[in-house]
This record gives sequence, C-alpha cells and structure tokens, in this order.
Amino acid sequence: MKFFIDTANLDQIREAQDLGVLDGVTTNPSLMAKEGISGEENIINHYKNICEIVDGDVSAEVIATGYEGMIKEGEILAALHPQIVVKVPIIKDGIKAIKYFSEKGIRTNCTLVFSIGQALLAAKAGATYVSPFIGRLDDISTDGVELIAQIAEMYSYYGFETEVLAASIRHTMHIVQCMEAGADVATCPLDAILGLLNHPLTDIGLEKFLADYKKVNG
Ligand code: G3P
Repeated sequence: MKFFIDTANLDQIREAQDLGVLDGVTTNPSLMAKEGISGEENIINHYKNICEIVDGDVSAEVIATGYEGMIKEGEILAALHPQIVVKVPIIKDGIKAIKYFSEKGIRTNCTLVFSIGQALLAAKAGATYVSPFIGRLDDISTDGVELIAQIAEMYSYYGFETEVLAASIRHTMHIVQCMEAGADVATCPLDAILGLLNHPLTDIGLEKFLADYKKVNG
C-alpha cells in the first residue's frame, strides 16, 4: 500500500519524505488555505516546491467547476511538473474533464467521493485515482472503511485500473483498516503515519536491551 501525506505544509512533507516511506502528497484548497497560500503565482510555486521535496505523485486540485475551466486549469497544473496529478471533483463536468484528461495522458485524482456509484463513474472516465473520504463518512455515522472495501472489490471484479486512494483519514487505525480493506493508497496526516510506530512492548523491549548492554559494557 502506498503512503501519501495529506497536507500542504512543507515542513511536514519534508519530515515524511525523510522517513523514506513517502510515495506522494495530496493537497486540496482547504489545506492550501490552512498554510496561507493564496494567489495564482504563490499556489503554482507551492506545488513546484512540493514536487522538489518528494519523488512521487502530487495532487493539485482545480478550482473551476465548469468543464472548460477545469480543462484550462488542469492543463496548466499538469504542465508544471511530471509528478502533478490533477484533482477533480466528482460532479458532471468533472467526469467529462477526467475523461478528457485521461485521453490526453494527464493523470487525475477524482475527489469528494462518498459512494460506490461515484467511484464507478470515476473509473469509467479513466481516473488514475479515486478518493473516497472515509473520515467524513464516519462523521455522519456511515462506515467509511466499508466503502473502501466495496470499491476495491468492484474495481478488482471489473478489472478497472483506477487506484483506490483512501482520503480523509483521521487516525492511525484508519490506515490499518484501509490496508485490510484493500486500499491501494492511504493519504494521511503525518501524526497518523507516525502513530504506526507506536507499541509499548517496543519501548519496554528497547529499554531492556539497552539496560542489559550497559550491565556488561558499562
Ligand atoms: O484527503 C481529503 C482530506 O484532506 C479531507 O480530510 O479531515 O477534512 O475530512 P478531512
């Protein structure tokens, strides 16, 4: 399973990259705003900076909601760097735009997916990734991880090549559950990735190894 980090924060992206297990980055307009990135030039430079830090795919979201606007923005974003994946919302014009990009060889991430029907449309349009938002489903008492399992099974049954990118991951257990459900990618906050390291028996064991070493080596 690939690990993407879900942030536009350059320090966190560097820290995840330094771990050596990072496969990419996802951003969205809210995450960019959280870092105070505004204005076309700054936004573009920020995407370029992210691409310089990581080796893998970097999702950059279009703001337009009409077909022509999405195509224009997506082509500009895709031309910035070969690592850029154009993120497009699952709306009618978004599906048309994904189909267009797919025919042009521009990779896409279909975002704001909350149902298996939306995931089916994204795959049929040729999306590279589909992003079901599991945390936001959990927020409304609906099982987000179950949706990941359903989409993964449906894509495998029909042979779709679209990768299931579990998004809106809120904590470490979500990552483990998405792995079990067959997600191809999990895009996570840094804390959730680091949480995978934690086990009290590791801490206790390491402490004992070091104490025993000290006993005989001083
Ligand atoms: O990857 C999508 C993500 O950024 C949304 O997460 O926590 O705002 O639902 P959240």
